[in-house]
Amino acid sequence: MDKQYRKTIIAGNWKMNLLASGVKDYADDLLTMIPNSSSWCEAVVCVPFVIIPAALSAFGNSHVSVGAQNMSQHESGAFTGEVSALQLNDLGAKYVILGHSERREVFGETDDIINKKVQTALQQGLSPIVCVGESLLQREIGITDELVSYQVKSALYEIDAKDFEKVTIAYEPIWAIGTGMTATPEDAQKTCAVIRNVVGSLYGADMARATSILYGGSMNDKNANELLAQVDIDGGLIGGASLKADTFAAIIDAAKQ
Ligand code: 13P
Repeated sequence: MDKQYRKTIIAGNWKMNLLASGVKDYADDLLTMIPNSSSWCEAVVCVPFVIIPAALSAFGNSHVSVGAQNMSQHESGAFTGEVSALQLNDLGAKYVILGHSERREVFGETDDIINKKVQTALQQGLSPIVCVGESLLQREIGITDELVSYQVKSALYEIDAKDFEKVTIAYEPIWAIGTGMTATPEDAQKTCAVIRNVVGSLYGADMARATSILYGGSMNDKNANELLAQVDIDGGLIGGASLKADTFAAIIDAAKQ
């Protein structure tokens, strides 16, 4: 089975939730519940910028990695309120979520901006988790495959194969995010397979086989097992269910298959 060629990643996206003062308890609880998870997956928590130092200190040298949820496309300079890839790398963050639908919809991030962010993240040694996904309307009019293919291609424009090795793609149908309306395992699988084909067309079959593709959108401790069993789903990007250590640990456990 091709899954043996790629890393399983279970990443929590805390969005704008939780507090730095609560991270130590969260980390202690999580690490007690999943002491050996590095043998079957990489667990990641992507926390708000201001919580990154507390998260890095709470998780210490453990097997749980810390990531950001966004960053500037610019390297440095007069960009009031922004945070750079270099600053994230300097702190010790490993991953950064880029192109999340909330960034696209609420903050007007275009495919062009997302491509620049992916380039900047890679230049500064971060591992981007690039999000793609269709709205309900786009799904209903039947353009999901074209849309996600376009989003993947534009996010990866001018990224060479060597750099692409550090990229993870997350398929997050917008209608499934925070709604409790999870994509069926079959639908999620189908779109993740489309994404893998696009990766193959850009970088070749070996790279497509080695790329981790995550599903996100109302994944929880009840549905994770079935979603993670799909041949092209290599992990999850989890919002609401990552906010409590016990449900996040249960999803990490479900990845052991
Ligand atoms: P929910 O798991 O809350 O639906 O959020 C998914 C998501 O947007 C992760 O990035």
